[in-house]
Amino acid sequence: MSAVMAETGETNVGYRVIQWATGNVGKEALRGILAHPDLELAGCWVHGDAKNGRDVGEILGGEPIGVRATSSVDDLLATDAHCVVYTPLLANVDEVLAIVRSGKNVVTPLGWFYPKSAPSADEVEAACQHAGVSVHGTGIHPGGITERLPLTIASMSRDIRHVRAEEFSDIRSYAAEFVVKEIMLFGKPPEVARESAMLDLLGKGFLQSVDMIADAIGVELDAERRTIHEMAVATAPIDTAFGPLDPGTVAAQRFTWQGTVGGTPVITARVNWLMGQNNLDPAWNFGPEGERFEVEIEGEPSVSATFHGLHPSEAAAGLERNPGLMATAMNCVNAVPYVVEARPGIRTYLDLPLVTGRADSSLRGGIR
Ligand SMILES: NC(=O)c1ccc[n+]([C@@H]2O[C@H](COP(=O)([O-])OP(=O)(O)OC[C@H]3O[C@@H](n4cnc5c(N)ncnc54)[C@H](OP(=O)(O)O)[C@@H]3O)[C@@H](O)[C@H]2O)c1
Repeated sequence: MSAVMAETGETNVGYRVIQWATGNVGKEALRGILAHPDLELAGCWVHGDAKNGRDVGEILGGEPIGVRATSSVDDLLATDAHCVVYTPLLANVDEVLAIVRSGKNVVTPLGWFYPKSAPSADEVEAACQHAGVSVHGTGIHPGGITERLPLTIASMSRDIRHVRAEEFSDIRSYAAEFVVKEIMLFGKPPEVARESAMLDLLGKGFLQSVDMIADAIGVELDAERRTIHEMAVATAPIDTAFGPLDPGTVAAQRFTWQGTVGGTPVITARVNWLMGQNNLDPAWNFGPEGERFEVEIEGEPSVSATFHGLHPSEAAAGLERNPGLMATAMNCVNAVPYVVEARPGIRTYLDLPLVTGRADSSLRGGIR
């Protein structure tokens, strides 16, 4: 691969890709890999025993495609592939290092967005340099909505004073029971949720986004980042896919991560996660715009953009296919050709050329 190719964004066809985990994001990534004209599915790692040895097509609810899923890390490390799309429940740095050392690039929504202060960054960077491959963190939030789109929009302004990326989502459409109940702590008493590890866990990603924006627009932030956790409780039972939330338990949460200058917020990343808009104390709703993502630049001029289409039409539909999770997966899958062609190392949005999707198969032709 030449540096020129990385800069121009020129890519090839036939990149062999291993999908690592088949949860919500992993299944959408598999569909994305199978639909992408430049990619071939080379293997698939699964955590659950019930999926071990099954054909990937059947895991997706369709016909067999001739690729069997496996729980054997060793088999996959020995498989000839250019890249792994890494989407398990939690990142395992040792596993990522093993994948890198086996000579495969990694694209993941689980971290490495801009990990300049992450404890594992130096080790992963060294492994990438040694193996001649790259690691790229992407997704929607953190990921594209949090930094790539704000930075793109920010090119239209001068004298930028504040950059904000904010999510407004109904979490009843997130089909991940363990994550929603045991990690996000919905349905727990407020005193339990107040001790939530989410500010820290999610902050590991969102604060990388804050750092990327600060460096890209040239801001020297205060040493301490500001984090805020707010919540509302249910005033009546609230139905969810995992059973009702009891009155008095946590049913809405807002997490905010900020970079400040002299104590004034300059960069804000925020999520508003509600279990519906009814029976909440304090009362809380999405407002007339409904579920959405917002990006806002305060400067000269101030510019904002609101993204619809990344949420399901209703919560139940989202449990089947969730557009936000599809978008997370596609940000990963579409990055693969560019990451394979990139210079070795941890490669962020600031390093890669313009990453984009591919046309429907019925429309393809011309220069890609
Ligand atoms: N950056 C972003 O914008 C963004 C957006 C959405 C999600 N995410 C992150 O992406 C990851 C995947 O999300 P998801 O919705 O796909 O999650 P998920 O559906 O709950 O689970 C992912 C998969 O992880 C595997 N798994 C389960 N238990 C495991 C364990 N103990 N150790 C290792 N793997 C285990 C399972 O794979 P098998 O089914 O194959 O056995 C499971 O299906 C999460 O960490 C999530 O936070 C990031």
